[in-house]
Amino acid sequence: MFGDAIYEVMPVYGGRIFTETEHLARLSRSLNEVKISPPMTESQWSLLLREAVQRSGERDALIYVQVTRGVAPTRSHVYPNTRPTVLVTVTPFKPLAREAVVPLSVKTALDFRWQRADIKVTSLIANGMIKNEALAEGYDDAVMIRDGKVTEGTASNVFIVVGDEIRTPPKSWQLLHGITRAEMIDTARGCGMEVVETIIDEAELYEAHELWLSSTGLELAPVGRVNDQLIGDGKAGPIWHQMFEAFQKRKQTID
Ligand code: PDD
Repeated sequence: MFGDAIYEVMPVYGGRIFTETEHLARLSRSLNEVKISPPMTESQWSLLLREAVQRSGERDALIYVQVTRGVAPTRSHVYPNTRPTVLVTVTPFKPLAREAVVPLSVKTALDFRWQRADIKVTSLIANGMIKNEALAEGYDDAVMIRDGKVTEGTASNVFIVVGDEIRTPPKSWQLLHGITRAEMIDTARGCGMEVVETIIDEAELYEAHELWLSSTGLELAPVGRVNDQLIGDGKAGPIWHQMFEAFQKRKQTID
């Protein structure tokens, strides 16, 4: 009733959960922020997720984990003393091959969500409204803007490339601290590229040479158009291609 729940989405590549430690750490942080008592320890989570992947029989998948505050005897704004309800699903999923990736077109949209976008809460009604409005207008997604600054995509983080520099908004309450965001920052730095976590004005989107969205499902998606303006020549840029390759290698080598 209260949308009183948090969640995680984690990738499984070749039967292995990628960045499991990071996802479990964020799950613990979300639970702590909303004061839902942890239903199990991180090592118990790890065992449960392993069992879920095994039982699903899937090699490439997304794990969805949701923890709600539990079943309360009556509707009340006061936190009940309930046992959290845990839901885990495993859905087959394969990220796109490089040849299949088509640059996205996005609109900019007012970020009217609550101020704690850093907590991965299941209440995604605002994200859904903004995304579906973008779809209805013929775009693939929206990049959200708060006070003239870029926050994030409706279910992704935002990167721009200006010259040799990769920029992404710094961690704050206003955006989810994406695990893929962190992976991409490390991937780029590992390739000797410069990454700066800095506030990005909406106007900078239009000047960018490349624009990307990052998330567990998208990995790194190039954006070819913002509103009625092309980014570069509208195709995936050279740095995106380099990042795509580097990230595929990273997936095979890092837990
Ligand atoms: N969403 N920002 C928002 C608002 C998100 O919902 C997500 C991910 C991200 C990227 O986070 P990560 O890189 O850790 O996946 C950023 C998930 C995948 C979802 O809701 O399906």
